[in-house]
Amino acid sequence: MRILVTGGAGFIGSNFVRFVVREHPAYQITNLDKLTYAGNLENLEGVTQRFVRGDICDAPLLAGLLAEHDAVVNFAAESHVDRSILDSAAFFETNVRGTYVLLEAARRTPVSRFLHVSTDEVYGSMAPDQFATEDSPLRPSSPYAASKAAAEMLAMSYAHTYRLPLIITRASNNYGPYQFPEKFIPLMVTNALEHKRLPVYGDGMQQRDWLHVEDHCRALDMVLHHGQPGEVYNIGCGTPRGNLEVLEALLKLVDRPSSLLEHVTDRPGHDRRYALNCDKLTNSLGWQPQESFETGLGQTVEWYKTHADWVGRVKAGAYRDYYDRHYQRRDETLAAFGKT
Ligand code: NAD
Ligand code: DAU
Repeated sequence: MRILVTGGAGFIGSNFVRFVVREHPAYQITNLDKLTYAGNLENLEGVTQRFVRGDICDAPLLAGLLAEHDAVVNFAAESHVDRSILDSAAFFETNVRGTYVLLEAARRTPVSRFLHVSTDEVYGSMAPDQFATEDSPLRPSSPYAASKAAAEMLAMSYAHTYRLPLIITRASNNYGPYQFPEKFIPLMVTNALEHKRLPVYGDGMQQRDWLHVEDHCRALDMVLHHGQPGEVYNIGCGTPRGNLEVLEALLKLVDRPSSLLEHVTDRPGHDRRYALNCDKLTNSLGWQPQESFETGLGQTVEWYKTHADWVGRVKAGAYRDYYDRHYQRRDETLAAFGKT
């Protein structure tokens, strides 16, 4: 198979490229990535693939690339909720218009599989004890989630109208190696290792259903090969955990005191709970997560400990400005949006 992976220099995309190179050595992969602040070719060091620096909004570039491939796996996106609250323009440009341009290219130059990687955030916040199935209504809350839901609507309309062999996956919160330290787990791990405060939004009782990125990649690989076109598949572990509970486990692993925790002004519109029912994926394709959260978190902490150079380089430059604006001057920044 010749696969066009978009966003393959980001966190999940780079783990997926590694996964495919390892599991399907005969496959050809082209990695199309714009290399935004979140894209990093260091994530793919030692991995053989063809790399094209480019934008999924570039229609002529996509037309040429699709003609050379059998399948598309679309990871490319702006992916951080907090950034979408501060400025959502790039989210709609890449996540919505970029997906549209990619779908149009696939309509004109058909591929045998189009896997669109979406998120459980499209369901919005779940009530206690409620688990979203693929048929649950979409109620996105943040600009990021709305852009992903819009992209899904477009994608499904192309599957329906033009019979594109398209599949959508909705995964829960991923964690693991190479995750950019703006996201909860790598931010907290790297801060704790540096003896820095751990900024807990609000009361810290929000729940997320943590999925190891390797389990996610295995599910994507199964769906790519055996999923039903036109279908949607949830991917998660079905065991939501509170943020404070995760931090408690993490502090133990890095041997740091709980005095590092600092409750800060909550994220505006913060979704309380994400929780997925993944029976469809388990019953139809036999997927189950293999990594327990406890061992997965331990390995992730070890990875960040042993990749201090990667962390140092990633946290230099523009990251510092973001960190300063979003954390050191948090109330001032949020006030500018009329939210405090
Ligand atoms: P990421 O931010 O780490 O990586 C995104 C990648 O896309 C980067 O390499 C970036 O350079 C690239 N990119 C951005 N705009 C582009 C454009 N216009 N053209 C080409 N490349 C572009 O994101 P991630 O966490 O790896 O997420 C990947 C996908 O998975 C996203 O679609 C996201 O919505 C989805 N997802 C993420 C999670 C999670 O927990 N991280 C969970 C479920 C779904
Ligand atoms: O659910 C899937 C989604 O998970 C993906 O679609 C997104 O791309 C990904 O970013 C993630 O979104 P979240 O908003 O759930 O993840 P984040 O890591 O930003 O935050 C996880 C939880 O931790 C959330 O309740 C907010 C909280 N948090 C986060 C940060 C960055 C804090 O308390 N403090 C922080 O500094």
